[in-house]
Amino acid sequence: MSSLLWWSAFFSAALLVLLRRIKPRKGSTKLRPPGPQGWPILGNIFDLGTMPHQTLYRLRSQYGPVLWLQLGAINTVVIQSAKVAAELFKNHDLPFSDRKVPCALTALNYNQGSMAMSNYGTYWRTLRKVCSSELLVIKRINEMAPLRHKCVDRMIQWIEDDATMARVQGGSGEVEVSHLVFCVAFNLIANLMLSRDFFDMKPKEGNEFYDAMNKIMELAGKPNTADFFPFLKWLDPQGIKRNMVRELGRAMDIIAGFVKERVEERQTGIEKEKRDFLDVLLEYRRDGKEGSEKLSERNMNIIILEMFFGGTETTSSTIEWAMTELLRKPKSMRKVKEELDRVVGPDRKVEESDIDELLYLQAVVKETLRLHPALPLLIPRNALQDTNFMGYFIPQNTQVFVNAWSIGRDPEAWHKPLSFKPRRFLGSDIDYKGQNFELIPFGSGRRMCIGMPFAHKVVPFVLASLLHCFDWELGSNLTPETIDMNERVGLTLRKLVPLKAIPRKRIVRDR
Ligand code: HEM
Repeated sequence: MSSLLWWSAFFSAALLVLLRRIKPRKGSTKLRPPGPQGWPILGNIFDLGTMPHQTLYRLRSQYGPVLWLQLGAINTVVIQSAKVAAELFKNHDLPFSDRKVPCALTALNYNQGSMAMSNYGTYWRTLRKVCSSELLVIKRINEMAPLRHKCVDRMIQWIEDDATMARVQGGSGEVEVSHLVFCVAFNLIANLMLSRDFFDMKPKEGNEFYDAMNKIMELAGKPNTADFFPFLKWLDPQGIKRNMVRELGRAMDIIAGFVKERVEERQTGIEKEKRDFLDVLLEYRRDGKEGSEKLSERNMNIIILEMFFGGTETTSSTIEWAMTELLRKPKSMRKVKEELDRVVGPDRKVEESDIDELLYLQAVVKETLRLHPALPLLIPRNALQDTNFMGYFIPQNTQVFVNAWSIGRDPEAWHKPLSFKPRRFLGSDIDYKGQNFELIPFGSGRRMCIGMPFAHKVVPFVLASLLHCFDWELGSNLTPETIDMNERVGLTLRKLVPLKAIPRKRIVRDR
């Protein structure tokens, strides 16, 4: 009976949408970008397939670099070339600075406290200012280098332990690189935010938080009917929001515990040597600075959580793809190793300060981000107002996908775009800092990734350490030609088959 009610509600509402679409609307005679014909009511939902960024990339040859889709009730425009991205970010960034919020992230009003999901407005601006002036600013990131060295040393130890354990159990010593790299990224963010490791020190809370985070990321990445038909939001037909309420609640309770502990610690008057992000947020609230009244305790917990969402899987999947590409390309692997031997040498570990001299390694990171941007469609934007974009009429509330995956393969911007060739970046000024629109894995403009300076430090450092401390071999069933390169879309774009490889220890004395 309840399913009968559900279906009749669905079809009546769908019919209403259809009728609404048949009536001519204001602006409907104006020129829209080209795109595939959609089905009644559903529009192009099923055209997207399981890998939307790949499908859209293929549509470019037929419809050009600006594409129009109707995803259920949601108008959507897709940007697919470096030239069009330049036009968007240079001349139309403001009208497209809002976000389209997925239903799952409205659980517990997450979107209202979040920076990534916030509407473009005062709260978002305040948060951005606090983060970019206090947390993710180069000086503070540099100050925290010793903590990152400690996390990376621990990762090296985990790898040795895992390999030994695997050999003791009669295996080849193969380890799951993806998992280890995810754990180190997680600890790196935990140190930046809260000056603590989540693995090792407090295993219980660490594991529970890790578990909740994984579930949240899985739920946030699931396609949700309610996002295509907003009138279904109240029904939550797949139960995604309900599950999200439970998991977000779990993670936020753990964060709230840490915040409480810190508030009590600070009340004792003992000064900490280094302030972390939690200290910055608490001081900001205490000083009653402009906008600080909106930083409620709940919102503070949300922001801390968000940095884990934003910073862990993006960072770790980038490192995993880089390792995978190098294992497929022994020549590139040899070049990175030669550079590491020359700059760092066999007697010590890599230091973060070495990275500036490791030019080929930096090129490997850029090439990886070009072919494997962790957020292939960035984070969807939303048109704040009706906008004339390159002669097309883009109505208010249109969702905007910028296909960084497609732009990284733009044949007008890249020579041999499908080949992994780090050397293309040697002697080139092209960078991922938001000014070169052919390479925008961190986005560009007002909503560009706030964590980019941190990722810029961490990704090459972890990768260099993995390559300098170990020689890596593929397991017995694999060759460079047979490594699986399929993707899996979730909150980020990951390898479908997690990377496993055998580490052989090379060096080195402790720091
Ligand atoms: C390789 C690592 C990373 C990649 C590829 C990445 C990518 C991105 C992208 C594509 C966006 C959306 C940009 C846009 O809409 O134009 C974004 C936004 C964001 N990122 Fe990252 N990110 C990474 C690391 C991090 C880290 C380490 C943090 C935090 C410590 C972080 C926090 C955020 C936040 C809070 C936003 C929302 C910004 C806003 O809406 O104003 N990210 N990131």
